[in-house]
Amino acid sequence: MKHLIDIKSLKNDEILEIIELAKYYEKNVPLGTQKKKQKGSVALLFFENSTRTRFSFEMASRKLGFDVFNFEAQKSSILKGEGFFDTLNNLNAIGCDIAVIRHSREGFIEELAQKNYSYGLSLINAGEGKSAHPTQALLDFYTLNKHLGTLEGKKIVIVGDIVHSRVAKSNIELLSRFGAQVVCCSPDYFEDWTLEHIKYEPNINIALKDADAVMGLRIQKERIENNVPYAQYIADYQINEKNMPDSAILMHPGPVNRDVEISSTLLDTKGEIIIEQPRNGVFVRMAVLDLIFEGVQR
Ligand code: CP
Repeated sequence: MKHLIDIKSLKNDEILEIIELAKYYEKNVPLGTQKKKQKGSVALLFFENSTRTRFSFEMASRKLGFDVFNFEAQKSSILKGEGFFDTLNNLNAIGCDIAVIRHSREGFIEELAQKNYSYGLSLINAGEGKSAHPTQALLDFYTLNKHLGTLEGKKIVIVGDIVHSRVAKSNIELLSRFGAQVVCCSPDYFEDWTLEHIKYEPNINIALKDADAVMGLRIQKERIENNVPYAQYIADYQINEKNMPDSAILMHPGPVNRDVEISSTLLDTKGEIIIEQPRNGVFVRMAVLDLIFEGVQR
């Protein structure tokens, strides 16, 4: 792998290679000294807020023995007018092999990946606008595999703000490719009919019936111009102890807004996998960083 921009750019066997390597890392951390011999350097450039993704990329880099640097835009020369490509190219020249980028503009990371970097910089999309969050989808796939085995024919219900969610987009694409029956449940103002493989069921009780996994989504306030009718949304679409099937697993990419998309009672009694997801994210991101670093030619 040279870059990781979106799920579309990954073949199924590459996805499975990431998952197998993540399984190895889950049982064999830290690799430490072996990797330190061919030390990589990772730059984290987050232009939108993050807790899980930024920390787990940092943790994954350290566990691999890589050096990791947090880019602080407010203290950088971007404020003196330097563009993103020149910034990345200079970081590459200084010694960064991989740039992990989160940004609000859709298509931006792909645009940056098309440039020629002087020392062969690789880019990883760590969440871009409403369009893609590939490592989140990979860690969700990893988590689903651990709990459900093969996804062939499994019913995965994604509840909430589909149209503004990069997590939903990457997950719908990846999980459908591996045979899952993905059902989206949301009010019409959160539907996105431009997506492939999309199936909606607006009634949450019908949607959640016979689900194997239920994935809640945060309402993406920062990407919504109109007011969301929260009270009505909670009444109709909150995942709670009344509508959550006992046999299904409960997931959420985080951050969870308690008592909005999931009730606090359900979160505190059935939310253990939501806390396992970011942990799995470390192993999956180790696998991605490792496979990309293998391809780094300097
Ligand atoms: N799931 C996720 O991307 O969380 P953060 O925004 O905290 O990184």
